[in-house]
Amino acid sequence: MASVDVPVALLGYGTVGAAVHRLLEESADEIERATGHRLRVTHALVRDTAKERGFAPDASVVTDDLDGILRDDSIQVVAEVMGGVEPAGDYVLRLLRAGRPVVTANKQLVARHGAELFEAAAAGGVQLRFEASVCAAIPVIKVLRESLIVTNVHQVLGIVNGTTNFILSAMEKGRSYGDALAEAQRLGFAEADPTEDVAGLDAAAKTAILATVAFGSRVPIDWVGVEGIEHVTLDHVAAAHALGMHVKLIGRASLVGDRVDVRVGPAFVDGHHPLAAVEGAFNAVMLQGDAIREITLEGPGAGGIETASAVVADMVSIVGTTGTGFLQNDPVWRSLERLPPGDLASPFYLRLEVEDRAGVLARIAQELAAEEVSVAQLVQQPSDGHAVLHIVTHEASAGRVAGALQAIRALPEARGEASAMPVISGRGVAELGWA
Ligand code: NAP
Ligand code: HSE
Repeated sequence: MASVDVPVALLGYGTVGAAVHRLLEESADEIERATGHRLRVTHALVRDTAKERGFAPDASVVTDDLDGILRDDSIQVVAEVMGGVEPAGDYVLRLLRAGRPVVTANKQLVARHGAELFEAAAAGGVQLRFEASVCAAIPVIKVLRESLIVTNVHQVLGIVNGTTNFILSAMEKGRSYGDALAEAQRLGFAEADPTEDVAGLDAAAKTAILATVAFGSRVPIDWVGVEGIEHVTLDHVAAAHALGMHVKLIGRASLVGDRVDVRVGPAFVDGHHPLAAVEGAFNAVMLQGDAIREITLEGPGAGGIETASAVVADMVSIVGTTGTGFLQNDPVWRSLERLPPGDLASPFYLRLEVEDRAGVLARIAQELAAEEVSVAQLVQQPSDGHAVLHIVTHEASAGRVAGALQAIRALPEARGEASAMPVISGRGVAELGWA
Protein backbone atom coordinates (compact mmCIF):
# COMPACT_ATOMS: atom_id res chain seq x y z
CA MET A 1 0.00 0.00 0.00
CA ALA A 2 1.46 3.36 -0.98
CA SER A 3 2.06 5.76 1.89
CA VAL A 4 -0.03 8.94 1.82
CA ASP A 5 1.42 12.12 3.30
CA VAL A 6 -1.19 13.78 5.56
CA PRO A 7 -0.41 17.32 6.74
CA VAL A 8 -1.99 18.05 10.14
CA ALA A 9 -2.03 21.14 12.38
CA LEU A 10 -2.01 21.67 16.13
CA LEU A 11 -3.69 24.59 17.88
CA GLY A 12 -1.47 24.75 20.99
CA TYR A 13 1.96 23.34 21.68
CA GLY A 14 2.03 23.02 25.47
CA THR A 15 1.94 19.88 27.65
CA VAL A 16 -0.50 18.05 25.38
CA GLY A 17 0.45 19.62 22.01
CA ALA A 18 4.15 18.76 22.31
CA ALA A 19 3.25 15.19 23.38
CA VAL A 20 0.91 14.82 20.37
CA HIS A 21 3.72 15.87 18.05
CA ARG A 22 6.12 13.46 19.72
CA LEU A 23 3.65 10.56 19.59
CA LEU A 24 2.87 11.23 15.92
CA GLU A 25 6.60 11.13 15.09
CA GLU A 26 7.45 8.14 17.26
CA SER A 27 4.40 6.10 16.16
CA ALA A 28 4.55 7.11 12.48
CA ASP A 29 5.29 3.57 11.31
CA GLU A 30 2.43 2.04 13.34
CA ILE A 31 0.00 4.68 12.07
CA GLU A 32 1.09 4.13 8.49
CA ARG A 33 0.75 0.38 8.89
CA ALA A 34 -2.83 0.75 10.17
CA THR A 35 -4.08 3.54 7.92
CA GLY A 36 -1.71 3.85 4.99
CA HIS A 37 -1.13 7.49 6.03
CA ARG A 38 1.82 9.35 7.53
CA LEU A 39 0.61 12.25 9.65
CA ARG A 40 3.02 15.19 9.51
CA VAL A 41 2.65 18.27 11.73
CA THR A 42 2.99 21.27 9.43
CA HIS A 43 1.65 23.99 11.76
CA ALA A 44 1.62 24.48 15.54
CA LEU A 45 -0.29 27.56 16.65
CA VAL A 46 1.02 29.21 19.85
CA ARG A 47 0.89 32.59 21.58
CA ASP A 48 4.62 33.10 21.88
CA THR A 49 6.57 31.86 18.86
CA ALA A 50 9.91 32.66 20.54
CA LYS A 51 9.35 30.39 23.59
CA GLU A 52 11.77 27.45 24.19
CA ARG A 53 9.81 24.19 23.93
CA GLY A 54 10.24 20.55 24.90
CA PHE A 55 10.25 18.26 21.86
CA ALA A 56 11.02 21.37 19.87
CA PRO A 57 9.18 21.63 16.56
CA ASP A 58 10.87 23.02 13.45
CA ALA A 59 10.87 26.82 13.46
CA SER A 60 8.88 26.70 10.21
CA VAL A 61 6.08 24.77 12.00
CA VAL A 62 5.53 27.22 14.88
CA THR A 63 3.12 30.02 14.05
CA ASP A 64 0.80 32.56 15.65
CA ASP A 65 -1.27 32.95 12.50
CA LEU A 66 -4.53 30.98 12.46
CA ASP A 67 -5.37 32.32 9.01
CA GLY A 68 -2.34 30.54 7.60
CA ILE A 69 -3.84 27.25 8.87
CA LEU A 70 -7.28 28.14 7.51
CA ARG A 71 -5.82 29.02 4.11
CA ASP A 72 -3.72 25.84 3.77
CA ASP A 73 -6.05 23.42 2.00
CA SER A 74 -3.59 20.56 2.34
CA ILE A 75 -4.22 20.28 6.14
CA GLN A 76 -6.51 17.32 6.72
CA VAL A 77 -7.00 17.29 10.51
CA VAL A 78 -6.55 19.92 13.19
CA ALA A 79 -6.05 19.07 16.88
CA GLU A 80 -7.21 21.80 19.27
CA VAL A 81 -5.01 21.43 22.35
CA MET A 82 -4.76 25.06 23.44
CA GLY A 83 -7.57 25.15 26.01
CA GLY A 84 -9.87 27.97 27.10
CA VAL A 85 -13.31 28.70 25.70
CA GLU A 86 -12.24 31.69 23.61
CA PRO A 87 -10.56 32.13 21.22
CA ALA A 88 -10.39 28.31 20.95
CA GLY A 89 -14.15 28.10 20.27
CA ASP A 90 -14.02 30.68 17.50
CA TYR A 91 -11.00 28.96 15.91
CA VAL A 92 -12.66 25.52 15.99
CA LEU A 93 -15.87 26.91 14.51
CA ARG A 94 -14.00 28.59 11.67
CA LEU A 95 -12.08 25.40 10.94
CA LEU A 96 -15.22 23.24 10.92
CA ARG A 97 -17.03 25.73 8.71
CA ALA A 98 -14.05 25.61 6.35
CA GLY A 99 -14.50 21.82 6.11
CA ARG A 100 -11.56 20.80 8.35
CA PRO A 101 -12.05 17.85 10.70
CA VAL A 102 -11.15 18.78 14.28
CA VAL A 103 -10.07 16.77 17.32
CA THR A 104 -10.25 18.52 20.69
CA ALA A 105 -9.08 17.86 24.25
CA ASN A 106 -11.00 20.87 25.52
CA LYS A 107 -13.74 19.79 27.92
CA GLN A 108 -14.95 23.32 28.72
CA LEU A 109 -15.42 24.03 25.02
CA VAL A 110 -17.28 20.78 24.31
CA ALA A 111 -19.44 21.06 27.45
CA ARG A 112 -20.35 24.71 26.82
CA HIS A 113 -20.54 24.91 23.02
CA GLY A 114 -20.97 21.30 21.89
CA ALA A 115 -24.33 21.97 20.21
CA GLU A 116 -23.02 24.81 18.06
CA LEU A 117 -19.79 22.98 17.23
CA PHE A 118 -21.53 19.78 16.14
CA GLU A 119 -23.96 21.80 14.02
CA ALA A 120 -20.97 23.42 12.28
CA ALA A 121 -19.29 20.03 11.83
CA ALA A 122 -22.45 18.60 10.27
CA ALA A 123 -22.81 21.65 8.00
CA GLY A 124 -19.17 21.37 6.97
CA GLY A 125 -19.55 17.60 6.42
CA VAL A 126 -16.59 16.87 8.72
CA GLN A 127 -15.93 15.04 11.96
CA LEU A 128 -15.45 16.63 15.39
CA ARG A 129 -13.94 14.18 17.88
CA PHE A 130 -13.38 14.82 21.58
CA GLU A 131 -12.17 11.62 23.27
CA ALA A 132 -9.29 13.40 25.04
CA SER A 133 -11.65 15.91 26.63
CA VAL A 134 -12.86 13.28 29.13
CA CYS A 135 -10.47 11.14 31.22
CA ALA A 136 -7.42 11.53 28.95
CA ALA A 137 -6.27 8.03 27.94
CA ILE A 138 -9.49 6.15 28.82
CA PRO A 139 -11.52 5.56 25.63
CA VAL A 140 -14.85 6.08 27.38
CA ILE A 141 -16.45 8.21 24.66
CA LYS A 142 -15.66 5.55 22.07
CA VAL A 143 -17.15 2.86 24.31
CA LEU A 144 -20.33 4.87 24.88
CA ARG A 145 -20.74 5.93 21.24
CA GLU A 146 -19.71 2.73 19.53
CA SER A 147 -19.83 -0.29 21.80
CA LEU A 148 -22.81 0.64 23.98
CA ILE A 149 -24.92 2.29 21.29
CA VAL A 150 -27.96 0.11 22.01
CA THR A 151 -27.48 -0.05 25.77
CA ASN A 152 -29.67 1.95 28.07
CA VAL A 153 -27.01 3.47 30.34
CA HIS A 154 -28.84 4.97 33.29
CA GLN A 155 -25.98 5.97 35.55
CA VAL A 156 -22.42 7.16 35.09
CA LEU A 157 -20.25 7.37 38.18
CA GLY A 158 -16.66 8.43 37.96
CA ILE A 159 -13.42 9.88 39.18
CA VAL A 160 -12.90 12.20 36.23
CA ASN A 161 -10.27 14.67 37.44
CA GLY A 162 -6.68 13.52 37.80
CA THR A 163 -5.38 16.51 39.74
CA THR A 164 -7.89 16.23 42.58
CA ASN A 165 -7.51 12.46 42.78
CA PHE A 166 -3.75 12.95 42.92
CA ILE A 167 -4.18 15.49 45.77
CA LEU A 168 -6.61 13.29 47.74
CA SER A 169 -4.36 10.23 47.33
CA ALA A 170 -1.36 12.26 48.54
CA MET A 171 -3.38 13.52 51.55
CA GLU A 172 -4.06 9.88 52.49
CA LYS A 173 -0.28 9.52 52.77
CA GLY A 174 -0.15 12.54 55.08
CA ARG A 175 0.93 15.18 52.55
CA SER A 176 -0.56 18.64 52.65
CA TYR A 177 -3.12 19.82 50.12
CA GLY A 178 -0.85 22.68 48.94
CA ASP A 179 2.18 20.46 48.44
CA ALA A 180 0.25 17.90 46.46
CA LEU A 181 -1.36 20.56 44.24
CA ALA A 182 2.06 22.06 43.48
CA GLU A 183 3.34 18.63 42.43
CA ALA A 184 0.28 17.97 40.24
CA GLN A 185 1.00 21.29 38.50
CA ARG A 186 4.66 20.39 38.06
CA LEU A 187 3.69 17.04 36.52
CA GLY A 188 1.43 18.75 33.96
CA PHE A 189 -1.88 17.33 35.27
CA ALA A 190 -3.47 20.59 36.36
CA GLU A 191 -5.32 23.07 34.16
CA ALA A 192 -3.64 26.38 33.33
CA ASP A 193 -5.80 27.78 36.17
CA PRO A 194 -5.84 24.94 38.76
CA THR A 195 -8.98 26.42 40.36
CA GLU A 196 -10.82 24.62 37.55
CA ASP A 197 -9.56 21.33 38.99
CA VAL A 198 -9.89 21.88 42.73
CA ALA A 199 -13.24 23.69 42.52
CA GLY A 200 -14.73 20.79 40.54
CA LEU A 201 -15.32 22.81 37.33
CA ASP A 202 -13.15 20.53 35.19
CA ALA A 203 -14.98 17.47 36.55
CA ALA A 204 -18.32 19.25 35.98
CA ALA A 205 -17.56 19.79 32.29
CA LYS A 206 -16.47 16.16 31.87
CA THR A 207 -19.51 14.82 33.72
CA ALA A 208 -21.82 16.97 31.56
CA ILE A 209 -20.16 15.54 28.42
CA LEU A 210 -20.44 11.98 29.73
CA ALA A 211 -24.12 12.52 30.60
CA THR A 212 -24.79 14.00 27.15
CA VAL A 213 -23.19 11.07 25.35
CA ALA A 214 -24.55 8.39 27.70
CA PHE A 215 -28.14 9.65 27.74
CA GLY A 216 -28.25 11.02 24.18
CA SER A 217 -29.65 14.34 25.40
CA ARG A 218 -27.78 17.64 25.69
CA VAL A 219 -26.87 18.20 29.36
CA PRO A 220 -25.88 21.85 29.87
CA ILE A 221 -23.00 22.47 32.23
CA ASP A 222 -25.13 24.76 34.39
CA TRP A 223 -27.28 21.76 35.32
CA VAL A 224 -24.31 20.27 37.13
CA GLY A 225 -24.30 20.79 40.92
CA VAL A 226 -20.64 21.42 41.75
CA GLU A 227 -18.59 21.26 44.92
CA GLY A 228 -14.78 21.06 44.87
CA ILE A 229 -12.23 19.64 47.26
CA GLU A 230 -11.07 22.95 48.78
CA HIS A 231 -12.85 22.16 52.04
CA VAL A 232 -11.65 18.57 52.33
CA THR A 233 -9.23 18.36 55.27
CA LEU A 234 -6.82 15.76 56.62
CA ASP A 235 -9.52 15.16 59.29
CA HIS A 236 -12.01 14.02 56.62
CA VAL A 237 -9.36 11.77 55.09
CA ALA A 238 -8.52 10.25 58.49
CA ALA A 239 -12.21 9.74 59.35
CA ALA A 240 -12.76 7.96 56.04
CA HIS A 241 -9.74 5.75 56.69
CA ALA A 242 -11.07 4.82 60.15
CA LEU A 243 -14.34 3.75 58.49
CA GLY A 244 -12.60 1.70 55.78
CA MET A 245 -13.42 4.35 53.18
CA HIS A 246 -11.66 6.89 50.93
CA VAL A 247 -12.51 10.51 50.14
CA LYS A 248 -12.84 10.95 46.36
CA LEU A 249 -14.16 13.68 44.07
CA ILE A 250 -17.02 11.91 42.31
CA GLY A 251 -18.93 12.92 39.20
CA ARG A 252 -22.34 11.30 38.99
CA ALA A 253 -24.93 11.48 36.19
CA SER A 254 -28.22 9.68 36.78
CA LEU A 255 -31.20 9.13 34.55
CA VAL A 256 -34.29 9.05 36.77
CA GLY A 257 -37.25 8.20 34.55
CA ASP A 258 -37.02 10.86 31.85
CA ARG A 259 -35.09 13.32 33.98
CA VAL A 260 -31.42 13.85 34.54
CA ASP A 261 -29.42 14.61 37.68
CA VAL A 262 -25.75 15.53 37.32
CA ARG A 263 -23.46 16.47 40.19
CA VAL A 264 -19.82 16.64 41.21
CA GLY A 265 -18.58 16.67 44.78
CA PRO A 266 -16.41 14.97 47.38
CA ALA A 267 -17.78 11.67 48.68
CA PHE A 268 -16.82 8.91 51.10
CA VAL A 269 -16.28 5.81 48.91
CA ASP A 270 -16.48 2.41 50.56
CA GLY A 271 -13.15 0.56 50.47
CA HIS A 272 -14.70 -2.34 48.52
CA HIS A 273 -16.09 -0.15 45.73
CA PRO A 274 -14.09 -0.25 42.44
CA LEU A 275 -13.62 3.55 42.58
CA ALA A 276 -11.92 3.30 46.00
CA ALA A 277 -8.79 1.72 44.51
CA VAL A 278 -8.25 4.45 41.90
CA GLU A 279 -5.14 6.33 42.98
CA GLY A 280 -3.03 9.28 41.90
CA ALA A 281 -3.81 10.90 38.54
CA PHE A 282 -5.74 7.83 37.44
CA ASN A 283 -9.44 8.16 36.58
CA ALA A 284 -12.21 5.59 36.39
CA VAL A 285 -15.71 5.65 34.94
CA MET A 286 -18.37 3.18 35.96
CA LEU A 287 -21.21 2.79 33.45
CA GLN A 288 -24.39 1.17 34.74
CA GLY A 289 -27.10 -0.03 32.38
CA ASP A 290 -29.76 -2.67 31.85
CA ALA A 291 -27.87 -5.12 29.66
CA ILE A 292 -24.33 -4.31 30.71
CA ARG A 293 -25.09 -4.19 34.46
CA GLU A 294 -21.80 -2.45 35.26
CA ILE A 295 -18.65 -1.73 33.29
CA THR A 296 -15.74 0.13 34.87
CA LEU A 297 -12.98 1.66 32.76
CA GLU A 298 -9.86 2.81 34.58
CA GLY A 299 -6.69 4.48 33.34
CA PRO A 300 -4.55 7.61 33.29
CA GLY A 301 -6.83 10.65 33.52
CA ALA A 302 -4.28 13.42 32.99
CA GLY A 303 -0.79 14.07 31.68
CA GLY A 304 0.69 15.07 28.34
CA ILE A 305 1.45 11.74 26.74
CA GLU A 306 -1.63 10.06 28.25
CA THR A 307 -3.91 12.73 26.75
CA ALA A 308 -1.96 12.70 23.50
CA SER A 309 -2.74 9.01 23.08
CA ALA A 310 -6.46 9.88 22.86
CA VAL A 311 -5.86 12.90 20.60
CA VAL A 312 -3.76 10.81 18.21
CA ALA A 313 -6.32 7.98 18.29
CA ASP A 314 -9.03 10.44 17.21
CA MET A 315 -6.79 11.86 14.46
CA VAL A 316 -6.05 8.34 13.24
CA SER A 317 -9.77 7.48 13.32
CA ILE A 318 -10.49 10.46 11.09
CA VAL A 319 -7.82 9.77 8.50
CA GLY A 320 -8.37 6.02 8.81
CA THR A 321 -12.05 6.23 7.98
CA THR A 322 -11.44 7.94 4.65
CA GLY A 323 -9.66 6.69 1.55
CA THR A 324 -7.84 3.46 2.27
CA GLY A 325 -9.60 3.16 5.68
CA PHE A 326 -7.77 1.10 8.31
CA LEU A 327 -10.79 -1.10 8.95
CA GLN A 328 -10.18 -2.64 5.54
CA ASN A 329 -6.59 -3.57 6.33
CA ASP A 330 -5.64 -6.97 7.66
CA PRO A 331 -4.51 -6.24 11.25
CA VAL A 332 -1.91 -9.02 11.01
CA TRP A 333 1.40 -7.51 9.94
CA ARG A 334 4.09 -9.64 11.59
CA SER A 335 4.77 -13.15 12.73
CA LEU A 336 5.68 -13.51 16.42
CA GLU A 337 7.07 -16.66 18.00
CA ARG A 338 5.57 -18.26 21.08
CA LEU A 339 7.50 -17.60 24.31
CA PRO A 340 8.50 -20.93 25.94
CA PRO A 341 5.97 -21.44 28.78
CA GLY A 342 8.65 -21.51 31.49
CA ASP A 343 10.21 -18.20 30.48
CA LEU A 344 7.56 -15.74 31.67
CA ALA A 345 8.60 -14.12 34.94
CA SER A 346 6.33 -13.33 37.89
CA PRO A 347 6.46 -13.36 41.69
CA PHE A 348 5.27 -16.74 43.04
CA TYR A 349 3.61 -18.06 46.18
CA LEU A 350 5.13 -21.40 47.32
CA ARG A 351 3.59 -23.75 49.88
CA LEU A 352 6.11 -26.25 51.24
CA GLU A 353 5.71 -28.87 53.96
CA VAL A 354 9.00 -29.88 55.57
CA GLU A 355 10.45 -31.41 58.73
CA ASP A 356 10.59 -28.92 61.58
CA ARG A 357 14.25 -29.12 62.64
CA ALA A 358 17.51 -27.22 62.43
CA GLY A 359 19.06 -26.79 58.99
CA VAL A 360 15.92 -27.52 56.94
CA LEU A 361 15.25 -23.88 56.10
CA ALA A 362 18.84 -23.52 54.94
CA ARG A 363 18.38 -26.51 52.57
CA ILE A 364 15.24 -24.95 51.10
CA ALA A 365 17.03 -21.61 50.67
CA GLN A 366 19.90 -23.45 48.95
CA GLU A 367 17.58 -25.07 46.38
CA LEU A 368 15.84 -21.76 45.69
CA ALA A 369 19.19 -19.98 45.34
CA ALA A 370 20.43 -22.67 42.93
CA GLU A 371 17.59 -21.60 40.60
CA GLU A 372 18.16 -17.89 41.37
CA VAL A 373 14.75 -17.65 43.04
CA SER A 374 14.87 -14.94 45.68
CA VAL A 375 12.56 -14.90 48.73
CA ALA A 376 10.51 -11.74 49.39
CA GLN A 377 8.39 -12.99 52.32
CA LEU A 378 8.33 -16.11 54.47
CA VAL A 379 5.85 -17.32 57.10
CA GLN A 380 6.27 -20.59 59.00
CA GLN A 381 3.35 -22.43 60.63
CA PRO A 382 3.54 -25.59 62.73
CA SER A 383 1.32 -28.39 61.40
CA ASP A 384 1.04 -31.89 62.73
CA GLY A 385 4.68 -32.20 63.77
CA HIS A 386 5.83 -30.60 60.48
CA ALA A 387 6.41 -27.04 59.41
CA VAL A 388 4.40 -25.41 56.61
CA LEU A 389 6.35 -22.68 54.83
CA HIS A 390 4.43 -19.97 52.97
CA ILE A 391 6.91 -18.18 50.72
CA VAL A 392 6.41 -15.27 48.34
CA THR A 393 9.28 -14.91 45.90
CA HIS A 394 10.58 -11.92 44.02
CA GLU A 395 10.03 -12.07 40.26
CA ALA A 396 11.36 -15.37 38.86
CA SER A 397 10.73 -17.36 35.70
CA ALA A 398 8.12 -20.11 35.98
CA GLY A 399 10.72 -22.61 34.73
CA ARG A 400 13.21 -21.70 37.49
CA VAL A 401 10.48 -21.95 40.15
CA ALA A 402 9.41 -25.35 38.79
CA GLY A 403 13.07 -26.47 38.90
CA ALA A 404 13.42 -25.37 42.54
CA LEU A 405 10.17 -27.12 43.50
CA GLN A 406 11.32 -30.34 41.87
CA ALA A 407 14.57 -30.23 43.85
CA ILE A 408 12.73 -29.41 47.10
CA ARG A 409 10.27 -32.31 46.60
CA ALA A 410 13.28 -34.65 46.30
CA LEU A 411 14.77 -33.57 49.66
CA PRO A 412 14.59 -36.19 52.43
CA GLU A 413 13.21 -33.42 54.70
CA ALA A 414 10.22 -32.78 52.39
CA ARG A 415 6.76 -33.76 53.63
CA GLY A 416 3.46 -33.44 51.70
CA GLU A 417 3.07 -31.83 48.27
CA ALA A 418 5.00 -28.66 47.46
CA SER A 419 3.00 -26.29 45.28
CA ALA A 420 3.36 -22.90 43.57
CA MET A 421 1.03 -20.26 42.17
CA PRO A 422 1.87 -16.97 40.46
CA VAL A 423 1.24 -13.84 42.53
CA ILE A 424 -0.59 -11.03 40.73
CA SER A 425 0.49 -7.80 42.37
CA GLY A 426 1.78 -5.17 39.92
CA ARG A 427 -0.49 -2.74 38.10
CA GLY A 428 1.34 -3.29 34.80
CA VAL A 429 2.00 0.45 34.51
CA ALA A 430 5.42 1.08 33.06
CA GLU A 431 7.23 4.34 33.74
CA LEU A 432 7.37 6.13 30.44
CA GLY A 433 10.15 8.46 31.47
CA TRP A 434 8.74 11.45 29.63
CA ALA A 435 5.50 13.37 29.83
P1 NAP B 1 -0.79 24.24 28.15
O1 NAP B 1 0.39 23.43 28.52
O2 NAP B 1 -1.09 25.47 28.91
O3 NAP B 1 -0.63 24.59 26.59
C1 NAP B 1 -1.49 25.46 25.92
C2 NAP B 1 -0.90 25.77 24.55
O4 NAP B 1 -1.86 26.52 23.80
C3 NAP B 1 0.38 26.58 24.61
O5 NAP B 1 1.27 26.16 23.60
C4 NAP B 1 -0.09 28.00 24.30
O6 NAP B 1 0.86 28.81 23.63
C5 NAP B 1 -1.26 27.73 23.36
N1 NAP B 1 -2.26 28.80 23.44
C6 NAP B 1 -3.03 29.11 24.49
N2 NAP B 1 -3.84 30.14 24.17
C7 NAP B 1 -3.55 30.48 22.90
C8 NAP B 1 -4.02 31.47 22.00
N3 NAP B 1 -4.96 32.34 22.37
N4 NAP B 1 -3.52 31.52 20.77
C9 NAP B 1 -2.55 30.64 20.37
N5 NAP B 1 -2.06 29.67 21.18
C10 NAP B 1 -2.55 29.60 22.42
O7 NAP B 1 -2.13 23.36 28.22
P2 NAP B 1 -2.25 21.77 28.17
O8 NAP B 1 -2.07 21.21 29.53
O9 NAP B 1 -1.45 21.24 27.04
O10 NAP B 1 -3.82 21.60 27.86
C11 NAP B 1 -4.34 21.88 26.58
C12 NAP B 1 -5.78 21.40 26.50
O11 NAP B 1 -5.83 20.00 26.77
C13 NAP B 1 -6.74 22.04 27.53
O12 NAP B 1 -8.02 22.18 26.93
C14 NAP B 1 -6.80 21.01 28.65
O13 NAP B 1 -8.00 21.08 29.40
C15 NAP B 1 -6.74 19.75 27.84
N6 NAP B 1 -6.29 18.59 28.58
C16 NAP B 1 -5.12 18.65 29.29
C17 NAP B 1 -4.69 17.53 29.98
C18 NAP B 1 -3.40 17.56 30.79
O14 NAP B 1 -3.19 16.59 31.56
N7 NAP B 1 -2.57 18.56 30.65
C19 NAP B 1 -5.45 16.36 29.95
C20 NAP B 1 -6.63 16.32 29.19
C21 NAP B 1 -7.04 17.44 28.52
P3 NAP B 1 2.24 29.25 24.35
O15 NAP B 1 3.02 27.98 24.50
O16 NAP B 1 2.87 30.18 23.41
O17 NAP B 1 1.84 29.85 25.66
N1 HSE C 1 -6.65 18.99 34.65
C1 HSE C 1 -7.25 17.79 34.20
C2 HSE C 1 -7.19 16.74 35.29
C3 HSE C 1 -6.52 17.28 32.98
O1 HSE C 1 -6.44 16.92 36.26
O2 HSE C 1 -7.91 15.74 35.20
C4 HSE C 1 -7.22 16.13 32.31
O3 HSE C 1 -8.42 16.53 31.71
